[in-house]
Amino acid sequence: NLPTTFDKPVHIAVIGGTGLAQLEGYEPIAELNPITPWGPPASPIRILSHNGANIAFLARHGLYHQYAPHEVPNRANIAALRHIGVRCVIAFSAVGSLQEEIKPMDFVVPDQVIDRTKGIRPFTFFEGGVVGHVGFADPFDAGLAAVVKRCAQSMEGDGVVLHDKGTVVVMEGPQFSTRAESHMYRSWGGSVINMSTLPEAKLAREAELSYQVIAMATDYDCWHSFEDVNVELVLKYMKANVNNAKRLVGSVLDQLSQREHSDLITAKHWEGYAQGGLKFM
Ligand code: ADE
Repeated sequence: NLPTTFDKPVHIAVIGGTGLAQLEGYEPIAELNPITPWGPPASPIRILSHNGANIAFLARHGLYHQYAPHEVPNRANIAALRHIGVRCVIAFSAVGSLQEEIKPMDFVVPDQVIDRTKGIRPFTFFEGGVVGHVGFADPFDAGLAAVVKRCAQSMEGDGVVLHDKGTVVVMEGPQFSTRAESHMYRSWGGSVINMSTLPEAKLAREAELSYQVIAMATDYDCWHSFEDVNVELVLKYMKANVNNAKRLVGSVLDQLSQREHSDLITAKHWEGYAQGGLKFM
C-alpha cells in the first residue's frame, strides 16, 4: 500500500527487461499509475529510494510479463517516465550473442543498433500534425555509456565480463530468427540480438532523454553449435547471472546519483533537441 503520488521530480529510471522485473536493496516509497495520451505504461512506476537518491523503475513487459515484445506500450512507457521528471534511462535487456567472444552471461554496452523491427510497433511521437525529425546516428548516450562502462570495469575481477561496444540487432519476434537470418546478422557486423531496444531507444531520443541499454547475453542465437535459443535457455542464464546484473545496475545508479552527474541525468545536452513541441501528458 504505497502512496500513489510523489511530489519531487525523479530524474533517473531503470527499464527492467526479462528476468529483471525488480531491484532489491531499494526501498519502494511510491507506486505511480500515470495514464498518458498513449495509454497506461506496461507496469506501475515504482519510485525506489537508495542512499538518498530516488529512482523510477518500470517493468517493460509488465509485472507478469504479459506484454510480448511487439505488444510493449513503448510510447506510454517513455511518456510516463518523462512526465514524472525522468531524463535519463538505463534500459536492461537479455540478448542473444552473434559473436563467439560474447559468451552467455557476458555484459555488453552497445553503441549501435540495426533496426529489424517490421514497422508494426508504434515507433514515433511525431505524427498527427506534430512534425519532428531527430538525429539517431548515435542511438545511445555517450556520457551514460561511459558511466556504465566504468562501473562494469570495476566489477571485472568479480565475475563480470564486459564488452564495451557493439551493435545490437533488434528483430521483430516473437519468433526467434532463422539460422539464415542469424548468419546474415553476423555478416552485417551484429554483436548481439534482442526484440526490445527499438522503438524504445528512438522514442527516448524523441523525448530528449539520455538512454543507454545494458545487454546481458543469454544464448548464442542459432548460428553456433551451442544449443539453439529458446525461452528456457534465456531464463536459465538470466537467472544464473541476475545477481551480477542487479549489482551492475545498482552501481550505475549509485554513480549517476552523485552530484557530478547532475547535468547528465537531467539531460541538459538533449534539451530542445527534438523541438517537436510534444506534450507528454
Ligand atoms: N533475447 C535473448 N536472446 C535472444 C535471441 N537469440 N534473439 C532475439 N532476442 C533474444
